[in-house]
Parts: sequence; structure tokens; C-alpha cells
Amino acid sequence: MLASKRILLIIGGGIAAFKALDLIRRLRERGAVVTPVLTRAGAEFVTPLSVSALAGAKVYTDLFDLTDEAEMGHIQLSRSADLIVVAPATADLMAKMAQGHASDLASTLLLATDTPVLIAPAMNVRMWQHPATQRNIATLHGDGIAFTGPNDGDMACGEHGPGRMAEPLEIVAAIDAALAEGPLKGRRILVTSGPTHEPIDPVRYIANRSSGAQGTAIARALVRLGAEVVFVTGPADTPPPDGVELHRVQTAQQMLEACHAALPVDAAICAAAVADWHVKSASTSKIKKGAGGLPQLEFAENPDILATIAQLSAGRPALVIGFAAETNDVIQNAIAKRLRKGCDWIVANDVSPETGIMGGADNEVALISDEGADHWPRMSKADVANRLAARIAETLAK
Ligand code: C5P
Repeated sequence: MLASKRILLIIGGGIAAFKALDLIRRLRERGAVVTPVLTRAGAEFVTPLSVSALAGAKVYTDLFDLTDEAEMGHIQLSRSADLIVVAPATADLMAKMAQGHASDLASTLLLATDTPVLIAPAMNVRMWQHPATQRNIATLHGDGIAFTGPNDGDMACGEHGPGRMAEPLEIVAAIDAALAEGPLKGRRILVTSGPTHEPIDPVRYIANRSSGAQGTAIARALVRLGAEVVFVTGPADTPPPDGVELHRVQTAQQMLEACHAALPVDAAICAAAVADWHVKSASTSKIKKGAGGLPQLEFAENPDILATIAQLSAGRPALVIGFAAETNDVIQNAIAKRLRKGCDWIVANDVSPETGIMGGADNEVALISDEGADHWPRMSKADVANRLAARIAETLAK
């Protein structure tokens, strides 16, 4: 899929720059043509020689190199690519992009281009969480910039949390998705999936049963049709799909925050089995058995993510889809739920134990819209996902 695709790869200045070398190798193995650009800070971490040797191409390093300007101007350089990839995208580079700076070769290329851009952020966790960076992220989302990562984990600086650059193969999958030609190309779609875990104490939680299989299949089907998918998942059994912007959360509150941060989107599909309640004052230490008798848990209601998104007064996605997993009066309940939540469609299914749907490979659903209930035959969850993705593509194209 990447054969002969022209990738302009901007390598920013961060410790993750070493992974950009592997990324170049992976891209070239797949037949892509990589034109590397190394920022001044990037050159502190990897040398121009190793970058150009791996890319098998000249590395561009400075805007004011007159020879380069004579050879290929920066405008042409940025426009002759099928995709611009920034890896690692540092907090500084993202700020420049969000503000429209053109103060060096990389930022000038990014400002001068009309080519799609995918960024793989990498930075210290505090820098990522800083309100300034979060504002820049929202601006870049609004500008149509695609993201891959960052991942959660240990960082070179010794801290832990979001900020690690996506791995080279994850970036390759995101590049595949960004270049995919399909009816959802250029569409940004939010998918929630999996259960949420609401802590009782540090070792216990309440949750709904959810494997995350259907949400994952939907995200995968949307990626295949060319969508940029933001996948917000609770702790699910099914591993997340490739080629999505992945956000892992535990609680309903965190899921809501991740969804808000993902906006604006063209469509939102809430497939997560969100816990309806959380424990009001979760204990910070393990509750001991015995002594004081049975623990008394006081519950508080969780935010309804689907209803919140469906009822946004500004920036509501064009299409908001919810799920109704019911054990009786499936269709009536789903029709009532669609109206109560204010969403456009409800995918309704019967999850009574005898159906084998919960945690199984198949699903049998009815799509509830303002046109009534459309009953689909029993099919695999992957086929339900493909059919739903095709319907979404059709509807967004109208
Ligand atoms: O209200 P109920 O849980 O039956 O509705 C199911 C639908 O609502 C699903 O699409 C689910 O993802 C969504 N939901 C939500 N936030 C909640 C509860 C449910 O997004 N707190």
C-alpha cells in the first residue's frame, strides 16, 4: 500500500528521534520514498549522515541553504509529498504549527503545504498535559492534522505517563490509514469501546461486562474506509486496532474527558459499556474484611457520554451513534433510548445469555434511526462493523 508513496519525514528534536531511523527503514521496506528533513534540534539526537544513508536520499536541514532553494524550494518540497509525517513532533514544533510560525525549514514546510500531515508527538508527560500543549492539540485537530500516539509508559526522563512516541510500526499503520483511499478519507471519527472500571479501593472496582470486540471491529472497519479514528477505550480484553489515535482510560469521567479532547469529529460512535455509577468516595487504601462489618458503598451517577456528545449545543458531530444492549423489549427500549439520549442512530441488540452475543464472535442487531428499525441478520461482529461503517460513509457523504 505504501509502494511509491512519497513521504516527507520531519524529524524533530527529542530523544525519540532515534526511532525515526527505524521508521525510515520500515517505510523503505514497504516501497515508500522518504525525503527526510531534520530540524536543528533533531540533529542534536541523530546525525544527518545516518538519516540520509537510511533514506537513500538527501537530508534537508536548513531553510536558508541557498543550494537547496535552487534545487528544490521549500514550497515545492512540501507539496511534492503524498503525506508529511512529523516524528517526533515535539511540544515546540506542535506550538509552531498551531501558531502558524515559519521560523525554520520544518515549520515553514508545514505552513506552506496543502498536503495531509500526520504527527507522532513525543515529549515529557508534564509538557503533554500542560494546558498550552492541550490547547495546541485542539487547534491542530481542528486544522485537520492527524495524530498517532503518544503512548503511555516509561519515559527517557524517568517519568511515566502519556508522551512516549508511537512505535515505528504503529506510525507505519497510521501512515497506511492516512493514505488509504476510501469514502471516509478526510473524516475524523470518535469510537468509544470496552468497559470502564470505577474504583472501590486501589484493588477493587465495579464494571460492566464488555470485551471491546464490537467497538474494536467498528474502529478497524472505519480505518479501512480511510477515516482518521480516535479510539477511546476502557480496559478491554480485545487488543486495540492498528492505525487509530489510541487513548486508554479507566473511568467514565476519564472517558468523557478524552472524548471532549477529541472533538471536533464528523461522527461519534459510543460502543463502550460505560458503568452507570461510580463509588462516591473511593477508598485510597484497601478496605479490610471483618472489623466494621460489610462495607457500605455510596454510589454517584456517572456522566452519560453519549447523551453529552449528542446534546452538544456547539460542535455536535454530524452523526452520533449509540448502542443499546438489552435483554428484553429490545426494540422499544432502543427507540426510547434514541430519543432520551438525543443521538441519531442506536444499534440495538439482545444480549440475553442464551444469544451467546456477549463476548462471542457474532452479533444480531437492529439499526434504529428516525426511519424506524432496520433488522440485520445474525452475522459476525466484523460484518456488523463493515456494514455500519458503510452506512456511516453513505450518510456523511449526503
Ligand atoms: O444508557 P445505556 O447504558 O443503556 O446506553 C447505552 C449507550 O449509551 C451506549 O452507546 C453507551 O456507550 C452509551 N453510554 C455512555 N455513557 C454512559 C452510559 C452509556 O456513553 N454513562
